[in-house]
Amino acid sequence: MNNFVYHNPTELLFGKGQLSRLGDKVEKLGKRILLVYGGGSIKRNGLYDKVMAILNEQGCHVAELPGVEPNPRLTTVYKGIELCRREKIDWVLAVGGGSVIDAAKAVAVGAVYEGDVWDFYTRKAVAKDALPLGTVLTLAATGSEMNRGSVVTNWETKEKYGAGTTFPTFSILDPEHTFSVPKDQTVYGICDMMSHVFEQYFSHTENIPLQTRFAESILLTVIENAEKALANPEDYDARANLMYCGTMALNGTLPMGVETDWATHAIEHAVSAVYDIPHGGGLAIIFPQWMRYVYRENVPRFKRFAIQVWGVEPAGKTDDAVALEGIEKTAEFFKRIGAPARLADYGIGDEHIELMAQKATSFGPIGKFRKLQAEDVAEILRMCL
Ligand code: NZQ
Ligand code: ZN
Repeated sequence: MNNFVYHNPTELLFGKGQLSRLGDKVEKLGKRILLVYGGGSIKRNGLYDKVMAILNEQGCHVAELPGVEPNPRLTTVYKGIELCRREKIDWVLAVGGGSVIDAAKAVAVGAVYEGDVWDFYTRKAVAKDALPLGTVLTLAATGSEMNRGSVVTNWETKEKYGAGTTFPTFSILDPEHTFSVPKDQTVYGICDMMSHVFEQYFSHTENIPLQTRFAESILLTVIENAEKALANPEDYDARANLMYCGTMALNGTLPMGVETDWATHAIEHAVSAVYDIPHGGGLAIIFPQWMRYVYRENVPRFKRFAIQVWGVEPAGKTDDAVALEGIEKTAEFFKRIGAPARLADYGIGDEHIELMAQKATSFGPIGKFRKLQAEDVAEILRMCL
């Protein structure tokens, strides 16, 4: 096990009716709020009205940044920063999925930074300060509600990068807020949270039994609940388990003492930057191919994955065969729940493979399980066609 430091200051308010605690937060954080949300789902499902009723009751001054795009744009972030300065905002409240939360994080750090917020994403500067941020999560997927990551797209330069920004001060997670998530977005969320576990599970670090079992238990719980939530979107228990898994998959628990990979995320972000596809859909396509490309680096790890997560029976099979069966089961599961399997499913051909490979590696080679150069990324993308 490697040395590690663990720090996570986000207060989680999980479960039915937790939105009622939003009022208490106003007392602590201030009355001048920037409300950040997406393309209208919170207006359609009534959450916007509930949030506004609480904020109005507290006598808040609410400025709004609506219309945050899935794969949020830098131009939208700039608008939010401008609003914070003009309206002398005390804190930012994000109500939505990962895109809304990520945009709100960018606004929160950008509002107190003299330079260009994009500096944080291009690794020219490190965010040191931020306005406080609260979130009301509406989609189980990214873990952004309990980590300091933020992913923003600069559409003009076709770049999509993640940065360490700021942890939410608090996050309200009511599974009922995810009842209205459509089937495709539920599927993408499932693929995303599983991919977060994969990025941290496929590692060469030795003596990590607890981390390994934490990771496997998240995967097993997602697999157990995915089809229940898809069959019945208002299955509270299934939605609650998925929501909890999404948070635990990327809140800093799994990488404690473990060398993690993250190459597949870098590849997916490059694909999204060029084609604007949903993040979880891209991961469902790329991850099985990444696994096929790299599994020989540590066959025992992939063998364990096949047995523990997918129940592959190893008797009478070579280690290689067991490892490959686990990869097949992963791809089959993604397919069964309705995720895309090939780039062609999004109408993507081989036109921009070199460009995407170059973008994925723009800060140098990616991945720790196997270090990937641009040529490797191009090869993996060709396997995805
Ligand atoms: O925009 P609205 O109208 O709200 O609709 C959204 C959007 O169209 C809809 N939606 C969300 N909650 C809903 C709902 N529809 C009905 N009912 C609800 N309750 O779902 C669509 C997708 O939303 P989005 O926020 O884009 O999805 P997700 O949470 O998957 O976030 C994806 C973004 O997060 C980044 C991705 O790259 C992508 O940009 N990531 C962020 C990470 C982080 N901060 O830690 C890590 C991840 O690996 C990921 O890269
Ligand atoms: Zn992800």
